[in-house]
Amino acid sequence: MDIALDLGTANTKLKINDDSIAIDEPSVIAYDVETNEILAFGNEGYRMLGRTSKRISVVFPLEGGVIAESGLVEELVNIFLCEICTSRVVMPRVVACIPGEITEVEKRAVVNAISSFGVRRVLLIEATKAAAFGCGLDIMSAHGNMLVDMGAGTVDIAVMTLGGVSAGKTIKNAGNAMDEEIIKYARRKHNLIIGKAMAKSCKESIACVIRPEKELVFRLKGRDALKGLPKWVDVTSTEIMQVIADIGVGIINGVVDVLEETPPELIGDIHTDGITLTGGLSQLIGMKELLEKETGIKIRQSKNPADAVVNGCFKATSYIDEAEAQKDTLNPLMMVY
Ligand SMILES: Nc1ncnc2c1ncn2[C@@H]1O[C@H](COP(=O)(O)OP(=O)(O)OP(=O)(O)O)[C@@H](O)[C@H]1O
Ligand SMILES: [Mg+2]
Repeated sequence: MDIALDLGTANTKLKINDDSIAIDEPSVIAYDVETNEILAFGNEGYRMLGRTSKRISVVFPLEGGVIAESGLVEELVNIFLCEICTSRVVMPRVVACIPGEITEVEKRAVVNAISSFGVRRVLLIEATKAAAFGCGLDIMSAHGNMLVDMGAGTVDIAVMTLGGVSAGKTIKNAGNAMDEEIIKYARRKHNLIIGKAMAKSCKESIACVIRPEKELVFRLKGRDALKGLPKWVDVTSTEIMQVIADIGVGIINGVVDVLEETPPELIGDIHTDGITLTGGLSQLIGMKELLEKETGIKIRQSKNPADAVVNGCFKATSYIDEAEAQKDTLNPLMMVY
C-alpha cells in the first residue's frame, strides 16, 4: 500500500488511490493539559479552536511548514494513518512533502513522525515538485517550469527542470501571518479582540492584494478590549488589503528574486508557459492579477489549488520502486527510511 501525505501547516491530506482524497482535515489537535489525553483532532479539533476551557489546549503543531511540536505531530500523523490503514499486515510506503528550504533536523522530524506509525519506507518530495506533478506539469524533461505553492505557513517558489530545482525560495510569511496581522489590526484600530478562526475567515472572504472591483464587507466578532463585552465591527476589503499588503509584497518580491536567479534558457520556457499557482492562499482575491502585473508573465491558477500537492505526492508514488532499486535514473523522490 502506498500513501501520499501532505502534512501542511493548516491542513493535512492523505491519498491512497487515484479517485479521491481519503483525508482532508485541519492539522489541529486538542488535548487535556493536565492528563495529556488527546480529546479531538482535525475538523472536530478546529471547531474547538478558541472555544475551550483553560484545561484544553488546541494547537496547530506545525509552523512555517515544519514541525514545531514533534510529539503532537506524531500523534496526529498516527491518528490519520490509522484511519486509512485498515490492515496492519502490510506496512505502507509513504510519500510526504516538505518545504524547499528545510534543515536536516526538520526533515528528520517529519520522517520520525511518520515512521513512528510503523511504515515500510518514507520518501520525501519537495512541495513544489509534488504540486507540479499534481498539476500535470512535466518537470522531468529539460524544460523549465515555475510553480508557486502558497499555503498557510510557507510560500514555496521553484523553477524546476530535469526532476530537480534550478532556483527556489521558501518564504515563511504566508496565510497564517496574514491572519496574525488581521488580529493585530482589529485590536489596534478597533479595540477588538478576535480569534484565529475569525481572522482566517475574514481573509478568505474579503482580503485582497489589489484594489477590489467591488468593496466587500466582513463582520468581525469578538470581545471589546476595554469593556470585556461582546463586540462586532464591519471591516472592508480595502481596509484589509492595507493590513496584509506587506506580506503580499514579500511574496511578489520572492517570485521576482527567483526569476532573477533563473538561468536564461529556463526563463524563456517560463515566459512561454507561464507560472503555475497552487495552494489555498493562491485563491486570495487579486493574487493572480498582481503577480501577472509585477512579473509580466502569464499566471495559471490550478483548478483545485489546495489539492495539488497531495495529488502530486500520489502521482510520485509511481517512482518509489525505482528509488528503492536505487536505479541511476532521474527520480524526484528522496529516500530516507
Ligand atoms: N479563498 C481563499 N482566499 C484566501 N486564502 C485562502 C482561501 N482559501 C484558503 N485560504 C488560505 O490558504 C491556506 C491554506 O492553504 P493550504 O491548505 O495549501 O496550506 P497548507 O498546505 O496547510 O500550508 P503549508 O503548505 O504552508 O504548510 C490558509 O491560510 C487559508 O486561510
Ligand atoms: Mg501546503
